[in-house]
Amino acid sequence: MHKANGSLQTSGNHKHAIHEINIKKVSDVAGAEILNVNLQNPLTKPVLKEIMEALIRHHVLIFRAQSLSKIQQETFTRNFGEIEGHVGRLPNGQRLPIVHTVTNVDSSTGRPTVAPHTDGNYYWHTDKSYHDVPSLMTMLHAINIPPEGGDTLFCNMHMAYESLPKEKQKFFSNLRAVHSWEASRRNTGNIPATEEQKRERPPVSHPIVRTHPETNRKSLYLGMHTSHIEGIAEAKGKRMLDELLDAATVTKNIYRHSWKSGDLVIWDNRCLLHRADRNFKMGKYRRILHRTVVKGTVPF
Ligand code: OGA
Ligand code: MN
Repeated sequence: MHKANGSLQTSGNHKHAIHEINIKKVSDVAGAEILNVNLQNPLTKPVLKEIMEALIRHHVLIFRAQSLSKIQQETFTRNFGEIEGHVGRLPNGQRLPIVHTVTNVDSSTGRPTVAPHTDGNYYWHTDKSYHDVPSLMTMLHAINIPPEGGDTLFCNMHMAYESLPKEKQKFFSNLRAVHSWEASRRNTGNIPATEEQKRERPPVSHPIVRTHPETNRKSLYLGMHTSHIEGIAEAKGKRMLDELLDAATVTKNIYRHSWKSGDLVIWDNRCLLHRADRNFKMGKYRRILHRTVVKGTVPF
């Protein structure tokens, strides 16, 4: 654990900067708790810098026992960049607000449901990979969490890439996958994309082996928004992507986040896949989280 005691820390001959935040790693795969930050307060530049560094190192950061209003969450999110809108619509057809809600509560009945409109979230994906400039970070703030389960799984795609045999690493390094909102809807058995949505978000392609812009470490970039591989027959390419996904999402590459109300979690979409787990009584308990997404850069 790093200390936040305001004193200079030394190791060997190297002097380290003062640590502003307390970091407790929770898993070797991904995930660290930030222990001493109240996100309601304005954060200083050094604190923000350390949070960003911790995100790059641990991929998932967990701030426990927070209590942010939507406005406060929006303010905190803006520290990291531009907030992204969504091509998806609410059940009433309206656009999603900047801080929107991930919920299993049916808006017409007011009751929890086993088939929420956000159920695409239950398949492995990386946020907005169907954009030409996909997400850097997503932030979820847990408002209402079932008494048991309702976890989110995070898959470390650096580890997934590094576990591949060398020939496969090389083979996929030269290929690009096609991602689209339309394919995403199809892959998740969801209401098909509308013509308007298809115009707003036409298919895009991204390298299957992506380089993290901050660390230069490689990772696999795929998930449920993909349809096929450029230059390979569609069915064959889809099969290859499915096989890669299966090999990637094995237990040893996964951090399982078990939510407590008040958790605020941010993750790095550039090197992780994630999905919600149906391991709770979805028709009985409410699972409600507030969500914001920060725009990233073009994958390379
Ligand atoms: C998301 C998402 C997963 C969850 O908000 O982008 O995929 O566990 N959520 O709700
Ligand atoms: Mn998501």
